[in-house]
Amino acid sequence: MSGGIRFENVSVAYGATTVLDRFDLGVEPGEVMALLGPSGSGKTTALRTVAGFVHPAAGRVRIGGRDVTGLPPYRRGIGMVVQQYALFPHLRVEENVAFGLRARRAPRREIPGRVAEALELTGMAAYARRHPRELSGGQQQRVALARALAIRPEVLLLDEPLSALDARLRSGMLAELARLHRELPKMSMLYVTHDQVEALTLADRIAVMDKARLREVGTPQELYRRPRTEFTASFVGGANLLPVTVTEGGILLGTTRLDVERGESAPGAGATLCLRPHLIGLGEGPNSLAGTVREVQWRGATHRLHLDLGGRTLTADLPELRTPPALGERITVHFAPGDAVLLPAGIGADANPRTAPGTSPQGALTGAGRADG
Ligand SMILES: Nc1ncnc2c1ncn2[C@@H]1O[C@H](COP(=O)(O)OP(=O)(O)OP(=O)(O)O)[C@@H](O)[C@H]1O
Ligand SMILES: [Mg+2]
Repeated sequence: MSGGIRFENVSVAYGATTVLDRFDLGVEPGEVMALLGPSGSGKTTALRTVAGFVHPAAGRVRIGGRDVTGLPPYRRGIGMVVQQYALFPHLRVEENVAFGLRARRAPRREIPGRVAEALELTGMAAYARRHPRELSGGQQQRVALARALAIRPEVLLLDEPLSALDARLRSGMLAELARLHRELPKMSMLYVTHDQVEALTLADRIAVMDKARLREVGTPQELYRRPRTEFTASFVGGANLLPVTVTEGGILLGTTRLDVERGESAPGAGATLCLRPHLIGLGEGPNSLAGTVREVQWRGATHRLHLDLGGRTLTADLPELRTPPALGERITVHFAPGDAVLLPAGIGADANPRTAPGTSPQGALTGAGRADG
């Protein structure tokens, strides 16, 4: 039952357009891997390649070490859940769940037990006799999950399974999926999402995709704390990305000298300082920065400030302030040397002429942009 998934340099093209470009990634048995990336980056294509609905132009796909590249979907030992629950409306819940078992010609005697087990796992045992129209969206998605689990798949493929649910249901289902993972520790999960919170919460590792390519793979903590590219920094959590100059004497932000790890950046080179908004403190400290307050947003537990640092905007999320600064006021903020990451400028943001426009990173806080994270 312990699978694991291996993409070996998989490329997929539609006509002249490459939508998956030499994709190379391994998912360990029992691991939850999130595929995270903007719309159109190739996440669903990668997932459907594992499922067997998309055929690669080059490369191999393995499940549990077995080369499945030429196998039809039903012989791959996968369960799949997609955004739209795709239940049969005329079948009862239990019949929907049994469907995959019958299609795979599971022994007749085994089917009721396997259906009951899957409904139990997803908390839907009490709804076995209902029709899909008698269920809420969240319940329908649980049935879709039960149907995928009933075949006891080696790997579970999930394509934005929560995106049709409202925020509260989503966070409940996220906890359910985490529980499911604990109860089925040998099953690998490949989880497609463009929601960084889902990826950070659920995944053992995250594979960041952009423009048909795999950009970076790491644990959520690695990608959040030590991103290696601007793209990852901006896509996994909100980030201030500030252009700095590396000199023999240190790192310069404009004319302000900063105390941060130089890493591999060579003197003379341009670099980008990645600074998370919540790691900025009010007042003097190490790495003080003076700026003019351009915007103050009260967000309940925090205040978000936009500061103008002489042409550059810095976003800071501070614990709720008793007396927030006034617009136009000049204030000083600071950050600890270990809390900023120096990135080589421009890496991971290369133009790729083969892919559609409109897929640029969304999380960067270089303007008065959004930051959810
Ligand atoms: N059947 C198809 N024919 C032609 N192009 C396709 C087909 N399916 C997908 N594409 C293209 O491949 C690219 C990647 O699509 P894919 O569905 O994998 O993206 P995605 O990362 O899942 O995006 P989203 O977050 O919007 O679901 C897109 O540019 C898309 O238009
Ligand atoms: Mg998709």
